[in-house]
Amino acid sequence: MNLTKKLLTPLISKAITFQNRVVMAPMSRRRAIDATPGASAPIYYGQRAGAGLIIAENSAVAPNGIGYLHAPGIYSNEQKNAWKKVVNEVHERKGKIFVQLVHSGRIGHPLNQGGTGLVAPSAVKAAGTVRTPGDLHLPMPQPEVLTTTGVQELINAHINAAISAVEIGFDGVEIHGAHGFLPEQFLNPYTNQRTDEYGGNMINRSRFLLEIMKGVADAIGKDRTGIRLSPFAGLNDLPLYAEEKSTHQYITDAMEQLGILYIHLSDQSTNGFPPIPEEHIRDVRNRFSNLVILSGGYTADSGEAILQTGLADMIAYGRPFIANPDLVERFRQGAPLAIGDKNTFYEGGDKGYIDYPALYEAQNTSCLTV
Ligand SMILES: Cc1cc2nc3c(=O)[nH]c(=O)nc-3n(C[C@H](O)[C@H](O)[C@H](O)COP(=O)(O)O)c2cc1C
Repeated sequence: MNLTKKLLTPLISKAITFQNRVVMAPMSRRRAIDATPGASAPIYYGQRAGAGLIIAENSAVAPNGIGYLHAPGIYSNEQKNAWKKVVNEVHERKGKIFVQLVHSGRIGHPLNQGGTGLVAPSAVKAAGTVRTPGDLHLPMPQPEVLTTTGVQELINAHINAAISAVEIGFDGVEIHGAHGFLPEQFLNPYTNQRTDEYGGNMINRSRFLLEIMKGVADAIGKDRTGIRLSPFAGLNDLPLYAEEKSTHQYITDAMEQLGILYIHLSDQSTNGFPPIPEEHIRDVRNRFSNLVILSGGYTADSGEAILQTGLADMIAYGRPFIANPDLVERFRQGAPLAIGDKNTFYEGGDKGYIDYPALYEAQNTSCLTV
């Protein structure tokens, strides 16, 4: 297949020119120290600056939004300074970088957040365990119910984090509306049993996410604002619900009205979750006129094929970027891809993080050893 076609051609949006249509999907690599990206983070992201767009790993907008051990935040000055180094490194290499903003809600453990306590729309505990300090795997506790003021504070936390991100130099932000974290906990009637304006009917349950999106788009510009969604996937102990389709149609229409840069649909079927039906992807494409990013299990060939159908404008790759820092160059050359070591996906310091060689480095190494 001729890969010089779409995947590798630039994409010019209003505010940003992407050098190609290969996106590095957000991946939480859990190497932060005290919720602050460490010295290797600029190296890691810099090595991957050949992507048309890097979406940096989910970063919490508030201390109680950190779900996982050693995940970073973007609310303190220390964190912002650390992220600035990442941004500078990527920009020096002519890359573009957004950051994914998250609040994990009921997913997580107080021990991973310095003991602040989980909060959620309602007191509905998530099934399962989460890794905590000392390599324990503890059950996720029942979350505390957010007051209406508390909900609004967290909307503002997202907006403030977006403002900080752009001040630091990020090219934009992606709001994490997927994978069963706080915004999806508001959307789903199983986890949202509220009786105030953030609960009840579909419009009320969507309000938290839509107020975040409007606030962020107004604050940093719609051309720098994206959203990640995972409809019908049921991650993090969320059951499917009757109004899931109409809720996502309502959100998609709202995103169209806001005119944000992109909707990023995250399919997790390669991880055993139900796929996003193609009918839904078509529906998003028809309702939303700006960029559609698709992700989940794509190869160079299948990514190119879907771009050719016009269903998507960019393809995001997660795992392939872990062991192939120069993924775009490998796609260009049709070179084989290295396979990442799963044991170091979420831990391991520099090992499995910044030590995967680029193709030319691998070739040079083998020349030296011959
Ligand atoms: C190590 C790892 C960390 C991840 N962290 C995040 C994250 O921070 N935010 C998110 O939305 N998805 C996250 N994901 C999901 C990926 O963005 C992507 O959707 C998934 O890996 C499927 O794409 P792939 O088949 O190209 O890997 C993560 C995946 C992996 C493997």
